[in-house]
Amino acid sequence: MSSNEKRLAGEAALRYVEDGMIVGVGTGSTVAYFIDALADIKDRIQGVVSSSEQSTAQLARHGIPVLDLNATGPLALYVDGADECDPQRCLIKGGGAALTREKIVAEASAKFVCIIDSGKCVDVLGKFPLPIEVIPMARSLVGREVVKLGGQPVWRDGVVTDNGNWVIDVHGWRIADPVGLERQLNQIPGIVTVGLFARRRADVVLVGDRVL
Ligand code: 5RP
Repeated sequence: MSSNEKRLAGEAALRYVEDGMIVGVGTGSTVAYFIDALADIKDRIQGVVSSSEQSTAQLARHGIPVLDLNATGPLALYVDGADECDPQRCLIKGGGAALTREKIVAEASAKFVCIIDSGKCVDVLGKFPLPIEVIPMARSLVGREVVKLGGQPVWRDGVVTDNGNWVIDVHGWRIADPVGLERQLNQIPGIVTVGLFARRRADVVLVGDRVL
């Protein structure tokens, strides 16, 4: 059921793709459906900017041109999944450890279309552990700061991000103020990216083929 909704969401996101666009592409199993659908209209777009090595590999298999964000300038559209979404369209992302490049491409894009299945919808963010990408030498420091803020940090041992960094997953937070927590965590040295997408949240959320 949930994989059917992921497929529907991935295909529905094609509605937002216009001729000649350069499309920002996220990461994950829902985005994989979007990439497969995008392949059918690849001759109508200029290309894409990818948020991960995983997505880049799939895009390359389809022969979709992957462009450098430094060369493209601002993008009109970004399509990506999420691990949780609240009613204000604030997100937890980073379950696939691609949060940093995802946040960069989201920031560069005028419209962020988030594609999810209904299991990702929550009233308050935080049941899904919040991923934080850290510079490796700061892992313990960041962990201690997170504990002071009431979270329980767990190192995602063995995972190295595309940027050569590590990921901490924070359990036990009920995130009633996503914008405030994102701002607070961004002050801690050693944190590269917080998987809260609240300041730059989704503009449109597709739950399956239905707009939230
Ligand atoms: C990767 C992400 C993904 O968007 C998130 O984990 C959702 O993945 P999926 O579509 O496989 O459920 O943030 O870093």
